[in-house]
Amino acid sequence: MKILILHAHPRLSASIVQRAMLRALDGLEGVSLVDLYAEYPDLAIDVAREQHRLLAHDVIVLQHPFYWYSSPAIIKEWQDLVLENGWAYGPGGTRLAGRFLMSAVSTGGSEQAYHHEGRNRFEMEELLSPFNQTAWLCSMAWLAPFVIHAGRRMPPAALSTAAESYRDLIVGLRDGSIDPLARLAPGYSLPPAFSEGIRR
Ligand SMILES: Cc1cc2nc3c(=O)[nH]c(=O)nc-3n(C[C@H](O)[C@H](O)[C@H](O)COP(=O)(O)O)c2cc1C
Repeated sequence: MKILILHAHPRLSASIVQRAMLRALDGLEGVSLVDLYAEYPDLAIDVAREQHRLLAHDVIVLQHPFYWYSSPAIIKEWQDLVLENGWAYGPGGTRLAGRFLMSAVSTGGSEQAYHHEGRNRFEMEELLSPFNQTAWLCSMAWLAPFVIHAGRRMPPAALSTAAESYRDLIVGLRDGSIDPLARLAPGYSLPPAFSEGIRR
């Protein structure tokens, strides 16, 4: 499988966790890494180029810090502009059918905070539901998210271990040793046009 990582961090120079994740991916063949803020510092996204990129990959990973229970702004801008009606969804819009979408995020909050009784009141899966439904509307499979919680408070060795497990996941998806269909988010059922995309 060809993997596309769309990475977004508005202050990468101050990053610890996302940089550790990027370091873990360094040099991986068959994995395309796009730094959205570096490519589009003024948010002027080249839609044709981004659509072309999507069509060349099977697994699309949105990798970013969790900001205000969602993504940094450029991910939203990318969605708004690139996932066009008649292309990604709507009448005739099945170009992404059969592909896989996954979030790879880092949070400031601990794992325990992301529960109904925790201080963030919702589970990660619930907060990521707009991405889940975006995948569904675009006839894609939504994979269980990869999350590093509170990585900035981890000892360096623990953060390295977490970043390596991210690399292992990406490598497994790339090589086929991890079947993405066995890694769907809990409760996600494949959208009707997903299988049309598989036959493309
Ligand atoms: C503007 C902003 C919003 C944030 N919102 C959240 C949030 O909603 N939930 C959370 O757990 N952490 C939040 N954080 C913490 C970041 O997610 C965390 O510091 C980041 O994932 C660590 O990765 P980094 O070292 O690569 O920046 C926020 C941080 C900033 C700067």
